[in-house]
Amino acid sequence: MGSELDGLQVFGETAVGWCASTPVNESADVEGKPVLSTSSFNASDPHAPMRRVHDDPQVCALREHLRAHNGIRNLEIVAPHEIERAARIFFRDGFVVVRDLLDAAQLARFRDGSARVLKDILAIPGEGSRKYVTETGRLPHRYSYGTASASRQLLHDPVWASMLALPTTTPILERIFGSQDYAVLGAGGDLCLPGAIEYQALHADVHERFDLPPERLAQARTMGLARTCVDGSTEPDARSRQLIVERTPALVTINFLMPDLTHESGPIRQIPATQGRADPPPAQSDEPEWMRLSTLVGAKAGAGVIRDNRAWHGATPNVSREIRAMPKFEYGAPAHRPNTPHGADFGGVWMSRGPGGNVVDI
Ligand SMILES: [Fe+2]
Repeated sequence: MGSELDGLQVFGETAVGWCASTPVNESADVEGKPVLSTSSFNASDPHAPMRRVHDDPQVCALREHLRAHNGIRNLEIVAPHEIERAARIFFRDGFVVVRDLLDAAQLARFRDGSARVLKDILAIPGEGSRKYVTETGRLPHRYSYGTASASRQLLHDPVWASMLALPTTTPILERIFGSQDYAVLGAGGDLCLPGAIEYQALHADVHERFDLPPERLAQARTMGLARTCVDGSTEPDARSRQLIVERTPALVTINFLMPDLTHESGPIRQIPATQGRADPPPAQSDEPEWMRLSTLVGAKAGAGVIRDNRAWHGATPNVSREIRAMPKFEYGAPAHRPNTPHGADFGGVWMSRGPGGNVVDI
């Protein structure tokens, strides 16, 4: 075990992962004890292979299926200078992939930091014969960089702190928020080890309240979103109200990719145009196959996924031999000032937190 973690890296092949002694779909309760869940964030994947073994026939069949079908067809990936195009795709789909947000030196530094924190997580002994601890409320081999920290955040880590405002990311965030006055609300990220063979249930990290308080309306007017009004007034009409809801997310996250996202390495899945939806995403048992395959295959290391946290998304199987790590930052809209940034009650102006009171990592 100790030797397995020596020289740990979050890119390239690794001996870490694939613990056959960790039962499929087994999560952990608040005390760390094994538990199965049929609902919520850690819901069992009813289609998962029966054994967590790289060469198991069911795993091989899943890998071949993913090789043939995984990934959004013609996924648009933009360059950092394509700010208007990035914003257009973001507002349309609820996410956008931007390549080369990190240069080679920044990527190397973020990889080192990500490996260092992961090493601390994996140093915790697992229950019984399990190689690794299972994080509370998560499926096996999946971890959050944020919730693994006592403060629930990693802003105190110099590596994370050095990446929160980059020449490549700031102009895009300013365009999305329509202002320079947005806030940094969190830092962390998530990862999955090879052998995370279960799909994570689709979810939204935060829930839209469909309220337009004065602060949000003011931001919308600045952004030119109050386009049509109720007759004889300056009140936005129903069409404008819907547009404002869609285009003024309270929370935007950037996930930075440490490895390339391949068909088999647990690429995140994003369901386009779900950021303004009133209904919840389908449960694992009801999710159609096209949603399970709606992943960001092809996005490269150093790229970022800029996503509206309301959009439906989820993690997918990592049946490779690579760790899929994605450190992240959360940014809050200018008018959205939570009472307690990271507390159980987000106290937000126009959104509420997801399950468990925290913004939920992939
Ligand atoms: Fe999430």
